[in-house]
Amino acid sequence: MEGAIGGNHGRVTDGPADLAGRTDLPSDTALAGRTALAGRTALVTGASRGLGRAIAAGLAGAGASVIGMSRDAAALEEAVGSFGGRALVHDLADVDGIAARVEGLEVDILVNAAAVMSSRRSKTLDATLAEWRDVRAVDLDAPFALVSALVPGMAARRWGRVVNLTACLGRMTGPGTAGGLAPYRVAKAGLNALTRTLAHELALGRRGVLVDATCPGHCRTDMGGPDAPRSVDQGADTAIWLATRASTPSDPVPTGRLWEDRAEVPW
Ligand SMILES: NC(=O)c1ccc[n+]([C@@H]2O[C@H](COP(=O)([O-])OP(=O)(O)OC[C@H]3O[C@@H](n4cnc5c(N)ncnc54)[C@H](OP(=O)(O)O)[C@@H]3O)[C@@H](O)[C@H]2O)c1
Repeated sequence: MEGAIGGNHGRVTDGPADLAGRTDLPSDTALAGRTALAGRTALVTGASRGLGRAIAAGLAGAGASVIGMSRDAAALEEAVGSFGGRALVHDLADVDGIAARVEGLEVDILVNAAAVMSSRRSKTLDATLAEWRDVRAVDLDAPFALVSALVPGMAARRWGRVVNLTACLGRMTGPGTAGGLAPYRVAKAGLNALTRTLAHELALGRRGVLVDATCPGHCRTDMGGPDAPRSVDQGADTAIWLATRASTPSDPVPTGRLWEDRAEVPW
């Protein structure tokens, strides 16, 4: 992976190499049953740009009332304004402030898309404790705080969807946790573990709440860089699909999994 990092001007190649250049991947985020989300409220972190913005727009297009959450107020308002959503400005590094920021919101769909990348030199033995904590705060602790604040309501109402944007770099298989970018990789591995743990605690969909992780692949965003092989829409598609899947508590769809391009992949 380090060669990919250096050759990408500090950006990370985060997706199976065999996805590069493929044109047969889903790019149409239009979904059957778009009215399925009418009356539902979605909170999408990282909605000001990149994948979070595309996911938020996709959920709004499927009928949800969308609340976007990120730091840059002007960018967030412009983004959510483009699809009629609401802006909730918050620095997710302020993990302790998250519960108060979302207090009183009745959220049916939580998409944890906001994240920060490690610096290119952050091998385990080079990473500072400060960087470790900064990355973990946004990439793992903030999703946990949002889950803690919002998922009890989903469970009580017997309907909910949690979609965590993780990364191939957080997998224990494939390129996974094979060295480099240690704070990011370990935080994403933790988010994968949180996904599976929470899904099991919620009886794998039998309480009406689906909890899943998706790796979007290497996409052309600020994080992925302009030379990434995949479009924003390709990267956003699976998250939108996960959030809009129909499921019943008596016969839930597969959940508590890691997905890429609408297919399950090993953790
Ligand atoms: N792009 C890829 O190739 C790729 C590959 C694998 C996984 N992913 C994952 O996909 C997700 C989206 O990535 P992306 O490429 O869309 O990233 P991006 O273009 O860098 O956008 C990151 C988003 O997170 C928000 N954010 C960052 N720090 C924040 C903070 N402290 N508080 C609140 N919001 C914050 C940003 O908004 P503000 O700056 O306004 O706060 C922005 O909306 C991430 O979880 C990433 O790890 C991406």
